[in-house]
Amino acid sequence: MTGLRVERLRCEHLADPGGLDVARPRLSWQVRSSRRGAVQLAYRILAASRPELLQEGNPDLWDTGKVLSPQCVLVPFGGEPLASREQVFWSVRVWDDEDVVSPYADIARFEIGLLQPSDWQAQWIAAPEGAESSSVTYLRSTLGISAPVRRARAYVTALGLYEFRFNGQRIGDARLTPGWTDYTKRIQYQVFDLTHLVAQGANLIEARLADGWYAGYIGFQGRRRHYGEVPQLLAQVEVDTDTGRIVHTTGDRWTAARGPIRSSDMLRGETYDGCAEVEPARPARVTTGTSAVRVTSPAPPVRVLEERHAVSVHRADGVHRIDFGQNLVGWVRLELIADAGTTIRVRHAEILQPDGRLYVENLRTADASDSYVLGAAGRHTLEPSFTIHGFRYAEVSGYDGDLSASDVVAAVCGSDLERVGEFSCADPALNQLHSNILWSARGNFVDIPTDCPQRDERMGWTGDAQVFAPTACYLFDAAGFFTKWLRDIRDAQTPDGSFPDVAPLVVLEPGGSAGWADAGVIVPSVLWNAYGDENMLAENYPAMRRWVECVRLANPDLLWIHARGYDNGDWLAVHAETDKDLIATAYFANSARLTARAAGILHLSQDEVELDALADAVAAAFRTAYVLPDGRLKCETQTAYALALRFGLIPPELASAAARHLVEDIERHDTHLTTGFLGVGQLLPALSDAGFIDVAYRLLQQKGYPSWLYAVMAGATTIWERWDGWTADAGYGDPAMNSYNHYALGSVGEWLYRTVAGISYVEPGGRRIQISPTIDQSLGWVKASHRSSYGVVHTAWQLGEGGSLTLDVKVPVNAAAVVRIPAGQDDYVGESGRSVAESPGVRVLKRDREQCLVEVGSGHYSFTVAPVADTEGNVRTRRKEDRVDQI
Ligand code: BGC
Repeated sequence: MTGLRVERLRCEHLADPGGLDVARPRLSWQVRSSRRGAVQLAYRILAASRPELLQEGNPDLWDTGKVLSPQCVLVPFGGEPLASREQVFWSVRVWDDEDVVSPYADIARFEIGLLQPSDWQAQWIAAPEGAESSSVTYLRSTLGISAPVRRARAYVTALGLYEFRFNGQRIGDARLTPGWTDYTKRIQYQVFDLTHLVAQGANLIEARLADGWYAGYIGFQGRRRHYGEVPQLLAQVEVDTDTGRIVHTTGDRWTAARGPIRSSDMLRGETYDGCAEVEPARPARVTTGTSAVRVTSPAPPVRVLEERHAVSVHRADGVHRIDFGQNLVGWVRLELIADAGTTIRVRHAEILQPDGRLYVENLRTADASDSYVLGAAGRHTLEPSFTIHGFRYAEVSGYDGDLSASDVVAAVCGSDLERVGEFSCADPALNQLHSNILWSARGNFVDIPTDCPQRDERMGWTGDAQVFAPTACYLFDAAGFFTKWLRDIRDAQTPDGSFPDVAPLVVLEPGGSAGWADAGVIVPSVLWNAYGDENMLAENYPAMRRWVECVRLANPDLLWIHARGYDNGDWLAVHAETDKDLIATAYFANSARLTARAAGILHLSQDEVELDALADAVAAAFRTAYVLPDGRLKCETQTAYALALRFGLIPPELASAAARHLVEDIERHDTHLTTGFLGVGQLLPALSDAGFIDVAYRLLQQKGYPSWLYAVMAGATTIWERWDGWTADAGYGDPAMNSYNHYALGSVGEWLYRTVAGISYVEPGGRRIQISPTIDQSLGWVKASHRSSYGVVHTAWQLGEGGSLTLDVKVPVNAAAVVRIPAGQDDYVGESGRSVAESPGVRVLKRDREQCLVEVGSGHYSFTVAPVADTEGNVRTRRKEDRVDQI
């Protein structure tokens, strides 16, 4: 028995998506088998309009029959093109290379949204003229149903944020809907299944509508109403009954009223007044809304991801001080008993002052506080609906009763991305660093990748996201999340091709900063490598090409000196300043090269030739301008060397000299880094590419300021924005810009997975993997896993007595891996108790002084390396620089 089975069915990278924009979505699955080297030889997909039809063996929409193909990722739906509202139930079985057939997988489903503009009949509505600004609008309507219901859906969106209720029940678990896009160009709607909620007779439909990103405060200029004045709702409820379809839409039959949420804002927080007089409902106002294209999101929604109880609550100075033990993003929920009229306020902060009070100076103008006036005596559950805060600590004032840790919960909120990466090692400080990276990603991925979640900023800074994107793809299935955000980037591209510094574009002028705007090229390339989905390149390619052309036109000499927008440079570097012309030209060369690669993958050969020629010419201009004959750069900083080496801008014959100059700089700084946002992600890869593993490990494990572990040693539970967020000498960093939850400097996460644990892809998407761990005495052991499109890749290494090594590897079905086992020529290399050469399913490709290179198919392999005594009887001990190169 091989236990062959199919699982994790996905449609357009999503699990059971409820509203798709495409008539031919693509289907993926993962195969499991306990047998080594198992591959899928054939599959059969069945699709039907009802699940019973599948069970009855009557797939009315599509039956592929047995297809001889190894493809299990992104197989296009091949039935008739699907129409609006169509629902599809599907399953798949596979045959492996021994002709064993799996059972059909558990049935999955997907549904098409409203594809045509004419599918929409709803009108936009808002509160009547003169309604109180920033208060939440409560909208209502009734729907009469007189025949048995077969199926019911609600298609809902808002300019602002909404919550939708049906017969008194909140529908769906998505938060902050419809998400953040440029509402003048593109707006996301959600699809809700109401089938089991619609009753015969009168049904009550309600929605609550708040300012959100549309009309509330965003950014650092104290400005609100970036898109419009008043939030608006658009909803279409469709009920299919035995006697036909009833369509009930927002329009003039709806009423609007002000309710107890008196104000709500993403930055400021929420105020609730349960004593406020109930105002009579008035007819809602029909508005023009937006002509933006209506889309469903390719990304998973924002949800409550986790609930954490406080780790401590204590009373001081008449307030309750709460510590959640983790800097996080979301809100506080309180359970308490109090009298009517009691006013309770909850304030939030990431850190404390020395006397234990909240430190809020770094929030700038973001009040980040929620308050509640209780309308009745008794037990209350208090939490906001349309705001989020970034905090570890909270302070509750106005409540005389006792609060215990079990009365206080932090609802952790963010985009509900599937976690696909795990990493742990023998060094607790590095494990904490990994945890900090993870929490900063979780907190800042809120429909878009924001810079920080707490102060008056929270924008989709493109530079931060591009440096972090590779790490994000190791941690999460971020396919849909970044696909969505790339649309925001393209929506903000100027007619002359310039990409923005923030997307969606608010507050700033368009942008065009080196390393920020380049996100429009880099992120699609990162996604292509992670998911092997050509659509991601195809969708972005024209915009990528226009961007490269835009930089070229402004810089005919090919040094990117002109038109650099805000020109952020190596943002927040310490003790070093890298020439901005050099940084920009390096990014120009890199973007031209990546766009050339994309052209090649998309079979645009003429473009590929032209763009490669451009990339070569920019690289040549870079060399002439910045590279000296001895491999030194004119600007000798770590960032300059790291970018030049990683972007292939140093002539090959000078590369090792340049890497040595980089190491000299690191040594001059007593093994401390000096890099800012742009250099930080490239620094360790530049060192390991050049063989300076020990230097890389020493930098990684440096605990003094500035370093990654410096913040960890200071108690950080998320990544800080700046290396000097807090220092023993100066205390808190400059409050004008000092976030304690900013993922950019956490881009080192990629190196932990790719180089320390050694997991990388040879073929985009991970059909061919490389397992190439970098062993270092200082670590002892490392364990990591990553779920690719094919399944879980796992690697674990451990150093043992006398220089021995074990290396555990798991490879998913349908994938193959080249494993580099660091072993000397004479060392014994075994696998699960036998010599590697005799191990079933293991093919030795190469054996030399440095390594034993093997190829394996799917399965679990336990390699061991035991040093053999040399001729003098000395056991050769593993050297620090024992390492394995990237292929
Ligand atoms: C943001 C950064 C951003 C930078 C660039 C800051 O205010 O928080 O993360 O990349 O500005 O100008």
